[in-house]
Amino acid sequence: MLTQRSLRTLWPIVCALLALTVALAQPLLAEDAFSPGAVWLDSQGVAINAHGAGFLYHEGKYYWYGEFKTTGRGGNVANVGFSCYSSRDLYHWKNEGIALRVSDDPSSDIVKGSVLERPKVLYNSRTRQYVMWFHLELKGQGYRAARVGVAVSRRPTGPFLYLRSFRPDGEMSHDMTLFEDENGKAYLLTASEENQTMHLSELSDDYLSTSGHWKRIFIGEALEAPSILRFEGKYYFVGSHCTGWAPNPASAAVADSIWGPWKPLGNPSVGPNADRTFLAQGTYLLPVHGQPGAFIFAADRWNPENPIDGRYVWLPVEFTPDGLVIRWRDRWQLRDFASLQNSASQTVWPATK
Ligand code: GAL
Repeated sequence: MLTQRSLRTLWPIVCALLALTVALAQPLLAEDAFSPGAVWLDSQGVAINAHGAGFLYHEGKYYWYGEFKTTGRGGNVANVGFSCYSSRDLYHWKNEGIALRVSDDPSSDIVKGSVLERPKVLYNSRTRQYVMWFHLELKGQGYRAARVGVAVSRRPTGPFLYLRSFRPDGEMSHDMTLFEDENGKAYLLTASEENQTMHLSELSDDYLSTSGHWKRIFIGEALEAPSILRFEGKYYFVGSHCTGWAPNPASAAVADSIWGPWKPLGNPSVGPNADRTFLAQGTYLLPVHGQPGAFIFAADRWNPENPIDGRYVWLPVEFTPDGLVIRWRDRWQLRDFASLQNSASQTVWPATK
């Protein structure tokens, strides 16, 4: 039994231990800020493992889907599958587990050791299903299969059920993204023709296949890592050039219709290592819910020698009268969007234009 006296003696020790625990836990807790390129810990203090990310905002929450990487060179193929994290504020992320798991069945397209990259998820309100598309390469075939895979779930966090893989519209497909327009039409944008030309394919109403309506865009420009946003009636594209895991200059474009014509905007990066997109490669242009004009350029700083230690580079998109700029910041917060005047209607156009 603790006497009052022993309690009095123990109390300072208990307080000191509590203070020490809190102090030790501090570096593990994510703060309300983005630090591009730094290790980013989830709500349990474990590094977020979701590369080549795609995002979904649904009913008050953001979902972050990505490649779950493992250690060493062998970690570049899919050993586990795609992870899912959820967040209400974009700073703090809860690990929701594996959304799509690789298969143990050697005859499955998504058998352990295949290549599963860049998962993108949309919610289809007609079928009330979450639909995931991703880049799929069959095990042991390098990047020759050039397919997309499709999986579905009744819940945003999964588990997703793998349906099938195919070449969209019969054409090669490597790096890809999905884009859902304001009218509910959705599109696949993918690096095709041995990465020389992008293909834009409209999706069927249930988002499970392409509709057959497709077009070649950025012909012969050899772009990959595509992402698209829509703002004030214009479509903006950010992609990269093709140098595998090594960083290269990003490439942006703008259009009045998603089908083009697309006007080239060059490399939108500004700041240290802008010539190599801050040593990263884009994966998604993420709209911040409730903040019109606020978009985050989400990119991967790959580490092919130890893929699990790949880092995330998130930066705010700044719209200019001529296009868009992605400027390096060591540390930033969502409230910084307020000072960007991110609205074409707010920008003052030169009188000569
Ligand atoms: C990159 C691509 C990545 C991955 C990698 C493999 O160009 O963007 O998603 O496919 O090549 O080398």
